[in-house]
Amino acid sequence: MCGIVGYVGEQQAAPILVAGLKRLEYRGYDSAGVALVDHGALTVVRATGKLKNLEGKLNAEMPKGVIGIGHTRWATHGRPSDDNAHPHTFEGVSVVHNGIIENHLALKAQLKAKGHVFSSETDSEVFAHLIREQQRTGSALPEAVRAAIAQVRGTYALVCITASDPDTIVATRESQPMVVGLSSGQNFVASDVPALLEHTRDVIFMEDGDFAVVRKTGVTLTDRTGASVTRQVRRIDWSPGMAEKNGHKHFMHKEICEQPRAVADTLRGRVLRSEGDVHFDGWSLTEAQVKSMERVWVLACGTSYHSGLAGKWMIESLARIPVEVELASEFRYRDPIVKSGQLAVAISQSGETLDTLAAMREAKTRGATTMTLCNVVGSAMTREADFTVLTNAGPEIGVASTKAFTTQLVGLYLLAVKLGRLKGTLSAEQARGHLEALSEVPKLVEKVLKTEGHVKEIARKYLGAQDFLFLGRGPMHAVSLEGALKLKEISYIHAEGYAGGEMKHGPIALIDEKMPVVVCAPHEPKVHYDKIIGNIEEVRARGGQVIALVEEGDAHVASLANDVIEIPKSSALIAPLIATVPLQLLAYHVADLRGTDVDQPRNLAKSVTVE
Ligand code: G6P
Repeated sequence: MCGIVGYVGEQQAAPILVAGLKRLEYRGYDSAGVALVDHGALTVVRATGKLKNLEGKLNAEMPKGVIGIGHTRWATHGRPSDDNAHPHTFEGVSVVHNGIIENHLALKAQLKAKGHVFSSETDSEVFAHLIREQQRTGSALPEAVRAAIAQVRGTYALVCITASDPDTIVATRESQPMVVGLSSGQNFVASDVPALLEHTRDVIFMEDGDFAVVRKTGVTLTDRTGASVTRQVRRIDWSPGMAEKNGHKHFMHKEICEQPRAVADTLRGRVLRSEGDVHFDGWSLTEAQVKSMERVWVLACGTSYHSGLAGKWMIESLARIPVEVELASEFRYRDPIVKSGQLAVAISQSGETLDTLAAMREAKTRGATTMTLCNVVGSAMTREADFTVLTNAGPEIGVASTKAFTTQLVGLYLLAVKLGRLKGTLSAEQARGHLEALSEVPKLVEKVLKTEGHVKEIARKYLGAQDFLFLGRGPMHAVSLEGALKLKEISYIHAEGYAGGEMKHGPIALIDEKMPVVVCAPHEPKVHYDKIIGNIEEVRARGGQVIALVEEGDAHVASLANDVIEIPKSSALIAPLIATVPLQLLAYHVADLRGTDVDQPRNLAKSVTVE
């Protein structure tokens, strides 16, 4: 949820920390701060609001120091304020923390009884006090942090510096991401890779319970007991430029336009055309396991959940295995009937969403084989799942997910083909047909992107609406849910996605001449097409404004609609991949024309690592 950066080396730390925090702005935050040590003195500067407020304070008096930590905070305990902003400091110990300490009230009470005075409402501040207590007994910083952590219950990515040890950063984690960046004569820690890319591409993804002692000369890693641990150094091939806007007004727009490339990258190396099969690195299910598989569980949140709903259609129709798609937050707190031999697929852009991670663990505990369909190499889900299928969308910075969604659909389609081949429900010839259709998608998406000017005009026409309804049937139901989510999250217009057949069970009461209704009406399958035309007639009869998403040349639906967006002709399973793109553009332009903060919509965060 929050962003962390730490630096130790030979350069002045403050500008490096602020630049790193800027790379993490996409995570959403409400205050920011840095702490630096210089000649045994600790300086802390914090500011509520955007990073420019912090920069204003720093520019007035730039603190010196070649070691420091920085943080962008998204409030959980205590409102956004300068006092509640991180770093939190007590008697020369300064910490930044992501996560939640469950027993912070009890710990605070104990510390207060010993005379500690707290200066914030946060749970995080207790770390500074606990660490200081340990230092008083003579512990060096690494041992002090280890002993403090032992008293804490909860989740954390914690980074600490102290005035008394001006060479050392200590970082540790539990259920929160933390990465170490390695470079010559300087080293880094961060909650997320983009913060490091300007400086290094050699990183270590820390595991739960790891402690990193980071100095300019090197990094040592130990576990909770102090025993040395070795973690692989990974080379990240995302260039810093990939995380920039490349001339687009917003990251979201850039990411919408990147979809042909992202889809192609997700297909790359997976399509075995001549065999009529799919190759996944690390795939671990045998033919016998797939043949006896009774069920596939799909576990996800938000946009990833919507891709799962479309994935159900893909897997059920190609592999004939029943699929349950569950909101991860619901699944983890019920008593799901999961059996060994079943497959649980956790879908996540970030690989860090707490509910999805917990649901995946729950499924694993109950005997399922776990797979994650994930966009972030080295994230928690990729480390914990039995195997991973990566969506190669590249870093997604806009809070509203776009290219992650389409690449998830590609991953699910490939998974459906793979399962179908192993199960024997798809011949090589049939699989080849599906794979060829998938290989056409980048071109089709390119074509849809060319409708942007027209979509923008439609956005202009309806941007004053108070409510939108999105309708679709079958796989297009998932698209309608995603279209509504995109619009509401970035434009703040109330929008609902509905299965066409459900319209008369409630939403029809809302329809009047002020209500735009976006109807997804591709030709395939015919049964859905015929029925959705019925929905259009019902909307028209009540004066609603129909914006129809139709296949090129569909004069019939076009004649019924107020506005039409054309998409290229495709099959029922490919259509969601193509039809989503104009809905993303519609949401984007409505929001942009209304002047909202498109990349960082209010109250939302990119990666929800708390409940
Ligand atoms: C947040 C993001 C959404 C995302 C959801 C699930 O709500 O704003 O864009 O779909 O989390 O995230 P995940 O990383 O697990 O796909």
